Amino acid sequence: METLLLKPNRKSIKLACELLRNGEVVGVPTETVYGLAGDCSNSMAIKKIFEAKGRPNDNPLIVHISNIKMLDKIVSCFNSDAKKLAKKFWPGPLTIIMPKKDFVCKESCGGLNSVGVRMPSNKIARKIIAKSNTPFSAPSANISGKPSPTTAQDVYNDMKGKIPLIIDGGECVAGVESTVISVLEESPTILRPGIITKEEIEKVLHKQVKVAKEVTQQTTNETKVLSPGMKYKHYSPNAKIIVVDSNLKDYVNYVNSLNGKDIYAMCFEKEEKLINKPCITYGKHNNEKSQAHALFSALRKCDEVNAKIVYARCPKTNGISLAVYNRLIRSAGFDIIKL
Ligand code: TXA
Ligand code: MG
Repeated sequence: METLLLKPNRKSIKLACELLRNGEVVGVPTETVYGLAGDCSNSMAIKKIFEAKGRPNDNPLIVHISNIKMLDKIVSCFNSDAKKLAKKFWPGPLTIIMPKKDFVCKESCGGLNSVGVRMPSNKIARKIIAKSNTPFSAPSANISGKPSPTTAQDVYNDMKGKIPLIIDGGECVAGVESTVISVLEESPTILRPGIITKEEIEKVLHKQVKVAKEVTQQTTNETKVLSPGMKYKHYSPNAKIIVVDSNLKDYVNYVNSLNGKDIYAMCFEKEEKLINKPCITYGKHNNEKSQAHALFSALRKCDEVNAKIVYARCPKTNGISLAVYNRLIRSAGFDIIKL
């Protein structure tokens, strides 16, 4: 199959809408990462998404809407917590897990009775949903297990020959996927951290919000996870990533003392000059948004330069940094050295 990579304009948006309505899969920009979009009510379309990604079929997809009315078809209960969150954070990078209606096909939800929904703030994504009148399910548009795509070229590299069209909306603003929160229980739980933080959510809900322990801890085969995505290998380049949890001085001494071929350092900007190994940077030390923005492209860069082992600086674990930490430790398969 030929994969078209087109800039967004009337013609390409129209084509994207036609493809979606016909049960095809399209690469679409969002403010977080690029998504692989397919009609959420069409089992065949959803099967194509799982196939293109090589995604385990028990891992549910997020449904994307362009206006709040679309929710009526998708969820059977829009409770007061969900309402407050939607009012404050939509359109934007927040996915809310709610009880599902049958309109969303079971394949999209990995067999669960719930569905994650978000209204993206990216205008191209919303335009495609609105014009096609098709709420679409969309996972990140990477091959399962690889770093998420933050440019159309990343999507092309992973999906060439597998999907008919990618809309090139430029670099994603956020760079990490949406915050996923479940409001199925009385006390809401963050299943995946993102740009919208626990603190911001608590302010809106006027109550404590839990963070699932799997956000920072490795799951074992026996653990029952709230979000199936937590079980799987994620975000990993071919290079071996090792996270070094320490201050800058100890990190520099450690990395500089290593011998061997194709060893890289993944550090923050301006730290390169201290390090005697080739460096890939991901954002600024004291700027968590810049780290989120740069992380996935830095992980992809590791393979572009054929790095074998990459020692990565450890981000903080609060606020937006928790989202960065959550992705980085997974990309490292939880291989963390504490100095
Ligand atoms: O920012 C994003 O959320 C991007 C863009 C494209 O919108 N999408 C994205 O989708 O990251 P994906 O499929 O790569 O990640 C969705 C995560 C998975 O970890 C999945 O297990 C979880 O959300 N999830 C989806 N539906 C769920 C449900 N009903 N219950 C629990 N977890 C769910
Ligand atoms: Mg993903």
